[in-house]
Amino acid sequence: MNVDITAAGTIDHESGEVLAVPVFEDRVWGPGAQWVADRLGSWLDEYLDEESFDGRLGDIVSMPTGDRLAFTTVVFVGLGAEVDDEALRQASGWLGRRTTKSSNVATTLHQVDLDGAAAAVVEGFLLGQYQFNTYKTSAEPSKTEHLRFLSPGGDNATVSGEEGRVVAEAVSFARDLINEPAIAKAPAVLADRAADAVAPAGVDVEVLGPEDIERERLGGLMGVALGAHNPARLAMFRYEPADPQAFLALVGKGIVFDSGGLSLKPPAGMETMKTDMSGAAAVFGAVQAIARLGIPVKVLAITPLTENMPGGGALRPGDVIRPRNGKTVEVLNTDAEGRLVLADGLSLAAEAKPDLIVDLATLTGSCKVALGEKIGGLWSNDDNAAGMVRAAAARAGERLWHMPLPDDYRKLIDSPIADMKNVADRWGGAIIAALFLKEFVDDVPWVHLDIAGPARWPDAEHYQSKGGSGFGVRTLVELAKEMAAG
Ligand code: BES
Ligand code: ZN
Ligand code: ZN
Repeated sequence: MNVDITAAGTIDHESGEVLAVPVFEDRVWGPGAQWVADRLGSWLDEYLDEESFDGRLGDIVSMPTGDRLAFTTVVFVGLGAEVDDEALRQASGWLGRRTTKSSNVATTLHQVDLDGAAAAVVEGFLLGQYQFNTYKTSAEPSKTEHLRFLSPGGDNATVSGEEGRVVAEAVSFARDLINEPAIAKAPAVLADRAADAVAPAGVDVEVLGPEDIERERLGGLMGVALGAHNPARLAMFRYEPADPQAFLALVGKGIVFDSGGLSLKPPAGMETMKTDMSGAAAVFGAVQAIARLGIPVKVLAITPLTENMPGGGALRPGDVIRPRNGKTVEVLNTDAEGRLVLADGLSLAAEAKPDLIVDLATLTGSCKVALGEKIGGLWSNDDNAAGMVRAAAARAGERLWHMPLPDDYRKLIDSPIADMKNVADRWGGAIIAALFLKEFVDDVPWVHLDIAGPARWPDAEHYQSKGGSGFGVRTLVELAKEMAAG
């Protein structure tokens, strides 16, 4: 992502390869578009009719200018009728994916009348250009080198655009980790990559290995790791700004591959299970961005990292384990492993007494059944905390739905021999998982995000690419900003 973002002069004084201008619904010209239309001539409307370009969000048309403009190509980018930050990000995402072959893109999109418009444009544009090319022998990486904001006094736009770049880079980093095959992200490797990505931002990194994990009595993580060949890790990253306004603990599920363990998944269910560390990836990305932006919130990030494999030493259905806080768990299904490693992560987080714990996990197929592929589930023991996270997610354009945490369902995970069992029967699986996690947060305000659906985007659209999405990073950054503001 080496796009250089600069302010340039006004549209009539500049030249270059691509000029992108916004258009609102019913082809209402946005900033700069009228100027372009005046120069292209009357046939433009016929052409746009033919292309069914109305200016709806998702509409995008590029055309050669044939010397009528000092730009070789003009791109009309649809913004829809009601423009907010998310519409601008999405439109910019469409633009980014359309212009990967152009080295020089100039735009007036940031002139749309919204606070933080430039940041939204940069974020959407860079994410729209994201590709995971590590294993393509004939990859065609983006050729874009310059994104230029055309306006009088465009310097401000460049400055605010930088925040968009930091966030886009953090999301892209999370996507890279998620898209990486499990063979190349053993827990130790993943922990190192994450540490290397956050340490330069001033984050303190600590990585626990198997002996530390045992000494710290992390019985959930130890239990899941029993069947794995590659040893477990637990990454603990700390960001401590000079004058913190709040203390946020983040916990991310980091199962680098979920085979189900002895409760083995069917082959189709395993195909995407390299992405079962998306919660941890989101936490890594968020910590990096929060530190790079210097948001005055103390952050403790905890990610238990292991494979869930059916090796000879594997946890057996019926085994009892004891996570960090001492409560015992009868493991009846080894495929419900996320909650076991999160039990340790949440216990550690609660011990640190933060103002708020947020955990992110690709926790249940049940949540994906309930909310589909693009909406995450939210559970909380604190309405105020839930409200803050929902507001942050709304600003970030990441969709979450508040789900219930009914006390009377708790008995469904009563165990005859331990304090609880790790599964109930068929119904309400995502709620059951959340009730299980609640046992490990003490009475610290806590929000649980089940991102089993949106952690992987099913299709390429606007600023999303198919595969790992980095869902959660942007909500967490918004949340930190909100907590910093008090
Ligand atoms: N990692 C899965 C959940 C999952 C499924 C995420 C599909 C994304 C897509 C989790 O560890 C799991 O297997 N959960 C089980 C729980 C069940 C055994 C109670 C599930 O959801 O089926
Ligand atoms: Zn599982
Ligand atoms: Zn899992």
